[in-house]
Amino acid sequence: MTPLEAALAGVLLMIPALVPNSAAVLFGGGRPMDFGRSWRGKRILGDGKTWRGFFGGALSGTVLGLLLTGISMVLETEDSWGYGEFQVAACAVLSLSFGAMLGDSAGSFVKRRLQIGRGEKAPLLDQYNFVAGAILLVLAFQPNWFIDHYIDGNGIYGLILFLIVVPLLHRGVNVIGYKMGKKDVPW
Ligand code: CTP
Ligand code: MG
Repeated sequence: MTPLEAALAGVLLMIPALVPNSAAVLFGGGRPMDFGRSWRGKRILGDGKTWRGFFGGALSGTVLGLLLTGISMVLETEDSWGYGEFQVAACAVLSLSFGAMLGDSAGSFVKRRLQIGRGEKAPLLDQYNFVAGAILLVLAFQPNWFIDHYIDGNGIYGLILFLIVVPLLHRGVNVIGYKMGKKDVPW
């Protein structure tokens, strides 16, 4: 793969990690994941983390990832554009999408410990919490998949473009969520 192809493939394969955060805004609501409980005087996670948002987000990422897997199998694309054989693909997709939502929840946990209120800005943490979660989980469950696509060959270009695209998408989606009345603030 050329560096450009590797960069595009890298972002494409990260879709299961990119989608959950935005989908959570659409699905969110109902019972908070911490059931309203506090720890040391501050909410554990806060009202911005709900079960519906968690599972709606993670399952949206999973469904899209499996769709991409199916498409690449039907088109018989080169290995680098697909997730590989089905078992590896399913494991990578699940790790990326659930990892993204776990990272998002962990980010809120850290924010509350730092006395940052729900919806208040935490630069870098807000944009990269789900990235860290997705990469950590995929490294735990499917390390070779990550190495094949993001380290070996020109894979690093995929990782770099993905890290550049994340804050731009994050911002764009949050502005849309705000305009739809789903979010109180446009960040
Ligand atoms: N959301 C949800 N459940 C989740 C994640 C997100 O319901 N597990 C919804 C909430 O409506 C949330 C919105 O998506 O307000 C935006 O998510 P995010 O920016 O992550 O939450 P914040 O409200 O900013 O809260 P925090 O400060 O804890 O990040
Ligand atoms: Mg936020």
